[in-house]
Amino acid sequence: MKIKRVEVDYSRCARCGFCTYVNTCHSPVSCCGCLSCFWACPYSARYVVEEEGRVELVDISVNGVRTRVPNGVTVARALEYLGYAFGEPSSKKPGLTCKTGGCWSCAVIINGVIERSCVTPVRSGMRIETDVERFDPLRIVHGPEPHAVGGKATPWWEVDYVNYVEAAIWVAGCNLRCPQCQNYYVTYDNTTTPLDPTKAAKLAVECHRAYSTKGIAVSGGEPTINRRWLVEFFKEVSKRVKPGVRKHLDSNGTVLTYDYVDELVEAGCNNIGIEPKCARVETYMKITGVSDERLASQYLETSWRSIEYVYENYAGRVYLGVGLVYNPDLVSIEEICEAGERIASIDSRIQVTVLDYFPAFRRREIKRPTASEMLSVKRALESVGLKTVIVQTRYGHVGPGERNVGLLKQ
Ligand code: FES
Repeated sequence: MKIKRVEVDYSRCARCGFCTYVNTCHSPVSCCGCLSCFWACPYSARYVVEEEGRVELVDISVNGVRTRVPNGVTVARALEYLGYAFGEPSSKKPGLTCKTGGCWSCAVIINGVIERSCVTPVRSGMRIETDVERFDPLRIVHGPEPHAVGGKATPWWEVDYVNYVEAAIWVAGCNLRCPQCQNYYVTYDNTTTPLDPTKAAKLAVECHRAYSTKGIAVSGGEPTINRRWLVEFFKEVSKRVKPGVRKHLDSNGTVLTYDYVDELVEAGCNNIGIEPKCARVETYMKITGVSDERLASQYLETSWRSIEYVYENYAGRVYLGVGLVYNPDLVSIEEICEAGERIASIDSRIQVTVLDYFPAFRRREIKRPTASEMLSVKRALESVGLKTVIVQTRYGHVGPGERNVGLLKQ
């Protein structure tokens, strides 16, 4: 059996403290090969060592049945060894989880306590139960905070840069591995105490009331990779706010199957932002760090199809926004136009927001696009027929009708 473990290359370590305070080791005595720290280190100072060898077996029980599994691995890997799979129920496939300890969608019950199987080392004598329905779902949550700009699907006319538009929370864990992750302190947090959906909804609604926001938003990380938590969150928010309040999901769309969209709308979500990021698979792989071409292609197409599905089935009921990204090192204007044409073929009025990817996380060598470059992106998208294009710039967002163009000072 192949055993993985992670080692540190101290010549690359920047002593940033990320592995001390944000993404901490849940198996400090001996590495169980969860790889969470490998994915999370902002300076790529961790590497994986894989060794073939005989492993000791330990006795555990799973759902009341005594069995033996390899020692020195995660609970998730031990369960996979026994034939269990982890993933979103809609996909029936493993893999659509974070595997870094933030999303809690891999939770099982260990000796009576709910815990993440992806970062917890298996131990002799463990009693594991895989049916977690009797426990509330959990997730690491940052915020809430009032937000003056909002996300991809925040209606552009609500944003005046004076008043707060949304009470936002950000959830940890993502199924992508974007080297330029723009929110990596949230995405790779596996340390903060998780919240159940009711507690998170109460806090978000309190923030919404305190700042009189028009909406409540959940972003990430990737919110959709813990389906049970997310659906419950929208149900709990819906119970507590007036019907006109926007309940906004900001998603990469990779897991948003049709039935999942239906379930979210049923739960009260009436504002969905989906970010396919680009048009082509090779670009998507570069942007997202997904090296498996088949998986990247599946993610990208699921994201685009979810846009079409929301538009075709919920126009007038769900306000839809689409997210693209721009940085000349990652995606060309020609490809941006290709993506724009695909959106315009659905409806030219769909709100499109383009993020100017700035250097962050493991891709610190790129330069943030200038404001004038972003205005060129805006013109390019308008030239393919799109009518509601917003571009993020270092000086603020520029929306339809040159709204806020005066903010640009270069
Ligand atoms: S897969 Fe274990 S916490 Fe996300």
